Amino acid sequence: MAFDRTNKLRGWLCVPVVLLCWLMAAAAVAAEEQRWQLLSPDKQIALELVLSQDALTYQVSYRGKAVLKPSVLGLAFKGQPLLKTGLLADKVSTRSHDAQWQPVWGQRAQIRDHYNEITLQLRESAAPGRQFTLVFRSFDDGVAFRYQVPAQAALAGELVISDELTEFAFARNFSAWWVEAYRNLSFEYQYMNSALSSVSVAHTPLTLTDDGIAVAVHEASLVDYSSMTLRNITDNHITLKADLMPWGGANAGMDSSATVDRVYTKAPFQSPWRTIQIAPTEAALLNSSLILNLNEPMAAGTDTSYIKPGKYMGIWWEMHIGEKDWSPGPLQGATTARAMQYIDFASKHDIDGLLVEGWNQGWEGQWWQRPPTFSFTKPVKGFDIDKVAAYAKAKGVELIGHHETAAGISYYEQQMADAFKYYQRLGVHSVKMGYVGKRLDGREWHDGQYMVRHFKKVVDTAAAHQVMVNAHETVKDTGLSRTYPNLMTRESVRGMEYNGGSPDSGNLPNHTVIIPFTRGLSGPIDFTPGIFNFNYQKHRPNNRVPSTLVNQLALYVTLYSPLQMVADLPENYAPGGKLHPAFAFIDAVPTDWQQSMALDGKIGQYLVIARQEKHSERWFVGATTNEQARTLQLPLQFLDKNRSYDLVMYQDAADADWQTNPMAYQIQRRKVSSMDVLTLQLAPGGGAALELIPR
Ligand code: NOJ
Ligand code: CA
Repeated sequence: MAFDRTNKLRGWLCVPVVLLCWLMAAAAVAAEEQRWQLLSPDKQIALELVLSQDALTYQVSYRGKAVLKPSVLGLAFKGQPLLKTGLLADKVSTRSHDAQWQPVWGQRAQIRDHYNEITLQLRESAAPGRQFTLVFRSFDDGVAFRYQVPAQAALAGELVISDELTEFAFARNFSAWWVEAYRNLSFEYQYMNSALSSVSVAHTPLTLTDDGIAVAVHEASLVDYSSMTLRNITDNHITLKADLMPWGGANAGMDSSATVDRVYTKAPFQSPWRTIQIAPTEAALLNSSLILNLNEPMAAGTDTSYIKPGKYMGIWWEMHIGEKDWSPGPLQGATTARAMQYIDFASKHDIDGLLVEGWNQGWEGQWWQRPPTFSFTKPVKGFDIDKVAAYAKAKGVELIGHHETAAGISYYEQQMADAFKYYQRLGVHSVKMGYVGKRLDGREWHDGQYMVRHFKKVVDTAAAHQVMVNAHETVKDTGLSRTYPNLMTRESVRGMEYNGGSPDSGNLPNHTVIIPFTRGLSGPIDFTPGIFNFNYQKHRPNNRVPSTLVNQLALYVTLYSPLQMVADLPENYAPGGKLHPAFAFIDAVPTDWQQSMALDGKIGQYLVIARQEKHSERWFVGATTNEQARTLQLPLQFLDKNRSYDLVMYQDAADADWQTNPMAYQIQRRKVSSMDVLTLQLAPGGGAALELIPR
């Protein structure tokens, strides 16, 4: 709706939906200042915009308390003045939206997308008179905004974004959970917990907590841009600013004062959405679908016939614990016979796929230390891929491909189309990617636009050959699976592999009760749970899995992924040929859900999640704790009131402890209904895993 400055009050009152109100400018406010307010549908979140000569700012409050103080917006293009001051609002429009949509797979079969929106079309009043638009949305679970730059003479030709001026001027010194950006392993670090004022430069999602509020700052729909990180702009302060991962030069951007190229683009273009999820509790943050909602629906006619969530095994953990090796030779893990053993086990337990790492030529020696030498179409000697693929097919298991690029993107791209064609011929519908290495092609950050562009090519090429993608060491998720449903899952976290052979001895026991509240907010995590044998110190004297056996079961529920690994070796699930009784939970747990509810939790301490299977009435509950033992009450209110259920409950035994007695478990069975309240006893580093089957 267009209106000029003189009739803006009248203009607002004419808005048919009651979502915006014009805040009368107080007498003290400069005449030129304009203000708008955008409420969430439930009116708990208020976003206020103020346009003055200096800048457009936004601020956010929740239940009447400030979350963000006035925070500056703007862009910097290389070789041009900042696009920030002297702005006029040419046109302001509003709308609201309320619709349901159904993802191909996910934590929820039905997602509500409900928001109020305001769009400001802005123009510099003085030369060069550049124009841009800011779109803001307010949801019940947070706010989001994005920049749109239309085609125009003042911004013609190739553009380089040298900075994004977006600020996040927090109103309180929240407790922050974060991973530092500009480090060699991207997200593969333990999370830190500090005062917000001690954050230097953080990856997103950045999760913040305080009494009665939990906040996560991230982005959605990162398609052809670089990742946003958040930099504290003054030491010991609580205003962070967008810091887009730059291009070029191995250490580009580490000196924050240096001018660097961050995004290459051309008008018209739009930035990803900047997102601020807000919830009354930490657990409630996990029930937000805001990131997915801000991504585009998939294109009409997208082929989804080959896309199937499921569980997979891999010739994988045996390499990480030093039993086998990726290199060809005496310790070679990828052999025809070994693959067939895994397939036999997988087939018996309805596990959908088998990943074979080291299947191809080029893994000799220290492959991560040199430019890549991999062939993506030639199997290694000793691994008969045609035979394995045919055997897998006969047994109802799918062979899963593996493309480890060792961060050599240009080298890989030369083979990429042939590599996917090769898999299609073999009937492979799932590929795990890897980008081990400090910099891509020795130069680029894993979170920059170079990776974003490359990874989009991967996902498109995979889709053209009916292949699902599971990527390790790639850029963070921003909800793109809504648009590209073959993009199933990714690592972007310090995964189970660190418990296998990491020189620092592995993850801390609180890690798996941190990552659902941080990394997990961005999308599915290929964490690779399910370790049943804690005794692998033969080759790894200093490493261990920092959990109990039952905690490993619960991770299938608390860490969401549509492709979930059953990570241990077949003989560890069935020692001496006898199946471990607790494996029944892994056998039963699905990876695609009708609904999911984080019921309770405290970041870094514990988490309880209930999920209902997509095409059945079965429910599964996972509860996990950090290094502390815990007793939790679990009301079964989420169950159908008119039914009763058979409960199978896997719990830590009374004397279980992740350090001294991780294997001790008990299984209880009883009849329950929605009126019951269960008491869960979690050992140090322990958990509880429940299956509820309607009678
Ligand atoms: C790192 C990945 O995260 C891991 O899962 C894989 O086994 C190795 N790279 C080798 O590709
Ligand atoms: Ca990794």
